[in-house]
Amino acid sequence: MDIREAINIRKSIRKYKKKQISDEVINELLDAARKAPSAKNVQSHKYFIVKDGVVKNKLIKAGAFKQSYVNDAPLIIICCADPSQYPKSTDVDETPVNYAYIDLSIATSFLVLRATELGLGTVFVAWIYRDKIKEVLNIPENYIIPFVIPVGYPDEDPRPKPRKDLKEIII
Ligand SMILES: Cc1cc2nc3c(=O)[nH]c(=O)nc-3n(C[C@H](O)[C@H](O)[C@H](O)COP(=O)(O)O)c2cc1C
Repeated sequence: MDIREAINIRKSIRKYKKKQISDEVINELLDAARKAPSAKNVQSHKYFIVKDGVVKNKLIKAGAFKQSYVNDAPLIIICCADPSQYPKSTDVDETPVNYAYIDLSIATSFLVLRATELGLGTVFVAWIYRDKIKEVLNIPENYIIPFVIPVGYPDEDPRPKPRKDLKEIII
């Protein structure tokens, strides 16, 4: 599969087969994120890998995810970044926390496209309780957690969501 095809076929998947995802495949996903560009090459992103087991059950018990399908994914990638890693900038109107969001979004886009290539379904999920996730996983207070990404072999084939025409997004 080439990148164009991965971009074209990716769509949010919210129903997953019970099949587990191998550590080898998980490493492939994280390696794609690892290779993404980042501001000043700071690479502030961090991932907490949640598979079926004790930690996942703790998250479910704490009610960390608003939508129950997240609980059913065989793999949940908790996407974090540490804004404190950026050097203080004086010449542009960007803050470290903005860079953290930007860099994490780029890196996870790489991850999601690689997942698509490997036949996996994903969805970005921002409807989460960040405080609960931080508490259960002992994630430092200053880290951002903009979203989590449940991952699994697709058990649904939803209709693709419409997109605006090119002329609507070009200024
Ligand atoms: C930053 C972000 C946050 C999102 N949060 C949620 C969420 O909390 N729950 C959910 O079901 N989908 C969530 N989505 C998925 C979007 O609804 C979905 O990407 C959009 O409707 C386009 O559909 P597609 O991904 O199938 O192309 C989120 C997507 C993004 C990019």
